Amino acid sequence: MFKNFWYAVEFSTDLEVGKPKKVKILGQQLVLYRKNSDHSVVAMSDLCVHRGAALSGGTIKDDCIVCPYHGWEYDPDGVVQKIPAQPDKGIPRKARIDSYPTQEKYMFIWVYMGDLPEEERPPIPDWSDIDDTETYRAVTGSFLWKSNYERILENGIDVAHTPFVHGGVFGNPEKPEVPDFVMEDSDWHCKISIELNPPRSKGIWGMINPNRQKLTERPPVPVSTTWFMPNMILLDVGTPMGAMKIFDVNIPIDEETTLVKFVALRSFFKGKWADRDARRRVFKVLYEDQAIVDHVRPELLPFDLSAELHIKSDQNAVKYRRRRQELIEAGWGVEGNTIVGEGGARVEARVIPSPTRKAVPELASAWNFKEVRSREILDARGEASPPRVEHRLVLHDDLHDDSAPEADAIGDIAGDEITTTYVTTSNKEDNA
Ligand code: FES
Ligand SMILES: [Fe+2]
Repeated sequence: MFKNFWYAVEFSTDLEVGKPKKVKILGQQLVLYRKNSDHSVVAMSDLCVHRGAALSGGTIKDDCIVCPYHGWEYDPDGVVQKIPAQPDKGIPRKARIDSYPTQEKYMFIWVYMGDLPEEERPPIPDWSDIDDTETYRAVTGSFLWKSNYERILENGIDVAHTPFVHGGVFGNPEKPEVPDFVMEDSDWHCKISIELNPPRSKGIWGMINPNRQKLTERPPVPVSTTWFMPNMILLDVGTPMGAMKIFDVNIPIDEETTLVKFVALRSFFKGKWADRDARRRVFKVLYEDQAIVDHVRPELLPFDLSAELHIKSDQNAVKYRRRRQELIEAGWGVEGNTIVGEGGARVEARVIPSPTRKAVPELASAWNFKEVRSREILDARGEASPPRVEHRLVLHDDLHDDSAPEADAIGDIAGDEITTTYVTTSNKEDNA
């Protein structure tokens, strides 16, 4: 799991004025509430610095939240303004908790779970299609998984599984081969575009758009899947009826629990009558995926790229794994189980640091809760241990490249068509 990203944590419409709400993310609990003055959203650690009560059980007073246990009042910056038991004494410096930046965008409440200054934060992706209510009709939904969000993310961008897991819905068992695809990427996203041959539509869609031609006579359907670091997916399908776009956030509640929230847009059948059907289609796919992904092992994505075999159609997933490796090395990873989440009882509460910690160094000693551990935990487990190893994915054609370093083939796939090999280069010397 990673800090320093904007995370969509809830639908905007699901946070009412006057009703604080507990949400869980990255093994931590947050309280969300709307200020009475302008209804903007506050996101704070849901952990009172006095005796650890959950502020989400409290009440809103003006723009503050009042702890349900002894009535301490926290302002939107997380600073205690009032301690009712001793009204005549000053407020201790340490009477503060982490408050995180928020935005409301694309139907979601986004919370910045990290301590980087504004200009260094990775962007929220451009999902402005969600705001285009002229062109699209939207349905939304939530789906809880008992599996790790990165396994779910990889499933969501993987086109090769659809004929097997979603045969009959949009995967076509008669056409399991994955054609060449175009890949476009940046530090924060990776999009692949491909043409697929899904089976005939069923249900309402099939009745209205019978597409009864034989498979060979039907035009292929343009599909793209995109991942955005660290937990978002866009699936874009150019169906014969119009565009279908599914935006989904895989909220890491903890390492093994994921709450998916999706906005599914369609540019066809825009009446309310088709909403239930559209939502049902997304859930059918999610249930089919869950049946497989819940049983994938190891439960967490391996840190080492060579721990699983990759083929050409996994290129976008490999890109994701490389990027996460870089971020873990950069210290953005957070260790899940020592902070304030569910699970076993613990004696120590750790939190994701908020931007004020870095921005106001004079307050360094005023934070009662320690920051969540990151890199050092992985090192101690030996999972990210130095010497650092650089993995390079070499596809079939590259193997004929004379300039390639000595290849240590780990992932040869049977058959000549697609051969994926890792070249593993130790850069131990560089680190010395
Ligand atoms: S625990 Fe919150 S005021 Fe005492
Ligand atoms: Fe799937």
